[in-house]
Amino acid sequence: MKIFYSIEEYINLKINVNHYIPTMGNLHDGHMSLIKNSKKNYNKVCLSIFINEKQFNNKKDFSLYPRTLEEDIKKLKKLKVDYLLIPNKKDIENFSSSFDKKLEPKKLTTDLCGKYRPGHFLAVIDIIHRFIQIIQPKKIVLGEKDYQQLIVIKELIKIYNHKVKVVSLQTVRDKDGLALSSRNNLLSIDEKKSASDIYKALLFAKKLFINKVPIDKIYKEMHKFFEKSPIKLQYFAIRNFKLLQCECDNALIAFIACYLGKVRLIDNIILKPSTI
Ligand code: PAF
Repeated sequence: MKIFYSIEEYINLKINVNHYIPTMGNLHDGHMSLIKNSKKNYNKVCLSIFINEKQFNNKKDFSLYPRTLEEDIKKLKKLKVDYLLIPNKKDIENFSSSFDKKLEPKKLTTDLCGKYRPGHFLAVIDIIHRFIQIIQPKKIVLGEKDYQQLIVIKELIKIYNHKVKVVSLQTVRDKDGLALSSRNNLLSIDEKKSASDIYKALLFAKKLFINKVPIDKIYKEMHKFFEKSPIKLQYFAIRNFKLLQCECDNALIAFIACYLGKVRLIDNIILKPSTI
């Protein structure tokens, strides 16, 4: 694996990248699944590690983000990732142009998590727009746990007509159903046990949906589910699978965002697979 700390060095080598995986480090089995899928067919895989301060809503959250570079590098070497880019902010800004704020797809970026995390998705769009310019990969590989992020990045690619395809891969869960996330490392043992209720709730919502329970009743049931739980629901929402709009057509997805202590967790479940 070749590690680049300098973008200039990376660009000068005119590397052809098939699959690009953007990360903020603290790599877990969810990332490993993205890498393993990308490595199939001898693809050249590039992964970036950059903790994008702008996408954190408060300084504390940013400073608490787990930094595990040495372990990350070991894991990436083991999986034979071809290129690892660990740039700094200045370098990224020097070698790419910013996302034009006037083009922000606000319908997507200010709904759901965007409502509670103002500016978050704009910062994600900006950094991904910059990395696409620098790496120019054929494909960008993203996890479905951050489903709204996935849709927002798809929209960015449309807006700028970037020549990159999006590959999205299923959420990886632990044995109790908890979606893997770097934030899980911030949970106590007891909180981790409780956190598996998030997926249980989503499975319950799906069961209700399959049994044709009306959508408004499912919302009520979800709030009831968490009433006596240490999990504090921030929102439960059912949306259109492709555009995240409220209308209830034949392809729906349910979202949960919640707090367990001070840790914010998100998850989602497809209620009806998209036929599109
Ligand atoms: O999902 C993440 O880890 C980040 O939001 C991303 C996509 C690497 C952008 O900073």
